[in-house]
Amino acid sequence: MPSFLPAPHLVLLVVGLGLPAMAQDAPEPAGQLEYLYNCSACHGETGLGDGPIARYLNVDTPGLTRLAAENDGVFPLLHVIQVIDGRTGIGPHGTLMPIWGERFMASALDDAGHFGAEVIVRGRVLSLARYLETIQEE
Ligand code: HEC
Repeated sequence: MPSFLPAPHLVLLVVGLGLPAMAQDAPEPAGQLEYLYNCSACHGETGLGDGPIARYLNVDTPGLTRLAAENDGVFPLLHVIQVIDGRTGIGPHGTLMPIWGERFMASALDDAGHFGAEVIVRGRVLSLARYLETIQEE
């Protein structure tokens, strides 16, 4: 890495310092942090599909606050988990939505080994899905 760039953990620390106040109020604080780091650039800070990157994509970036409303008022938890994980092929594959299961797996493998990493992936995906459940609107 070029020396003029700060180390990645310093960048995360600086980004992270601005977030804990919001996270404490959330019913799903870990999921909210995951969301703000990984998803809000496209789906928007409040999940309305209006993140800063969204306008550069050549597909519509969906809002994530009406997933329950569009499913007869029931939050489609399993579906959302599978869409976020992406590795089962269910969900928006072939589009710009990243396959988070693979990304989270890659970042956990060195420290946790294969089975440990799989547990970490599932935890992260579940916390994201649970967070999305808390931002549903009528
Ligand atoms: C690079 C931009 C981008 C990022 C980052 C991103 N997404 Fe997406 N996401 C999309 C796009 C584009 C779609 C719609 C794809 C389609 O309809 O084919 C989508 C679709 C979805 C859907 C399905 C919505 C529906 O109506 O069924 C969910 C759920 C979702 N994303 C959650 C997430 C979560 C959680 C994260 C962070 C871990 C995330 N996304 C990060 C671009 C992104």
